Amino acid sequence: MSLKVTNLKKVYQKRFTTKPPLTAVDDISFEIKPGEIYSLLGPNGAGKSTTIKMIAGLVLPTSGTIQIAGKTGSSPSYQKLSAILEGTRNVYWRLTPLENLHYFANLRGVPSSRVKERAPRLLEELNIDAKKKNQSQHLSRGMLQKLALAAALITDPEVLLLDEPTLGLDVESGRRIKDMILRMARDEGRTILLTTHQMDLVEEISDRVGIINHGQLIQEGTLPELRAIFKSHIYRLRIKGELQWEERWQNQGLRLIQKQNDVYLYELDLKDSAGVSHLLSFLSTKQEQDPQLEILSCHRVTDELEEIFLRVLRPNEN
Ligand SMILES: Nc1ncnc2c1ncn2[C@@H]1O[C@H](COP(=O)(O)OP(=O)(O)O)[C@@H](O)[C@H]1O
Ligand SMILES: [Mg+2]
Repeated sequence: MSLKVTNLKKVYQKRFTTKPPLTAVDDISFEIKPGEIYSLLGPNGAGKSTTIKMIAGLVLPTSGTIQIAGKTGSSPSYQKLSAILEGTRNVYWRLTPLENLHYFANLRGVPSSRVKERAPRLLEELNIDAKKKNQSQHLSRGMLQKLALAAALITDPEVLLLDEPTLGLDVESGRRIKDMILRMARDEGRTILLTTHQMDLVEEISDRVGIINHGQLIQEGTLPELRAIFKSHIYRLRIKGELQWEERWQNQGLRLIQKQNDVYLYELDLKDSAGVSHLLSFLSTKQEQDPQLEILSCHRVTDELEEIFLRVLRPNEN
């Protein structure tokens, strides 16, 4: 099922104060197709959670429309949607993991027989099995988050909303959740909307990214499309050993940005791809003169999503 939001807006009226109303989400539109992973990326307070809550039907939009599988409003298609909200309170702490799955399935009208069939597989897949007899309040943050995902999946949703699904998790739990999200989209064709400010997660799994700030969607595209926006040739070079630069490199804005023991991190603007070749031949000459010199890495900064993100948020500093 596709998910489409059009001109979605949320204004929070501040009651009992003279403060002006706050526009948390300001005229956002996007569409996500079945099998697609769409990431909303933005700083704290950008409006990500409010967007998720409006789509999940928990917060009433001030204006705009939300369509699931082409239908607007609280149609039966809402039964095909599940959400994990921010934080760890997505499950009942006094119930065991298995009881939680039964509870959430019952709420959504999933027959017990179906739960009995699906639950063990979900718990195993997410590696929650070992602790399933304990009350969920004894689970670690990673376990709770995996359980929240299991509870969201027990209803077999076609549209899944995940608000910061891997925030603050250990590496193992984070990877399980990531793998699960990928499989749900790629193999099972579910429609996935994700919010996060973890760049690595976005880079690893997103088909498309929307960058949101102050409630507005200010940039959108696939990762290659976002990289292509900035055609700059600013490079970062990490070298082990001290390099004697020639005078000409100062004109390329050569800057030492970090030195750690004998590892140097430089940044310079190579202007175009010819500049990149010049740097490489310069480096190879230097290395012949001094075999101790070791090039650890050399890459274009705007290939990094984090760099793209910062530049999109602060366009004037380019
Ligand atoms: N229930 C609410 N009442 C008033 N303001 C809210 C409420 N929820 C969120 N906000 C405000 O809306 C803005 C967007 O918040 P949120 O959607 O949580 O952002 P994000 O998830 O991107 O960090 C913030 O300025 C936040 O303080
Ligand atoms: Mg949030």
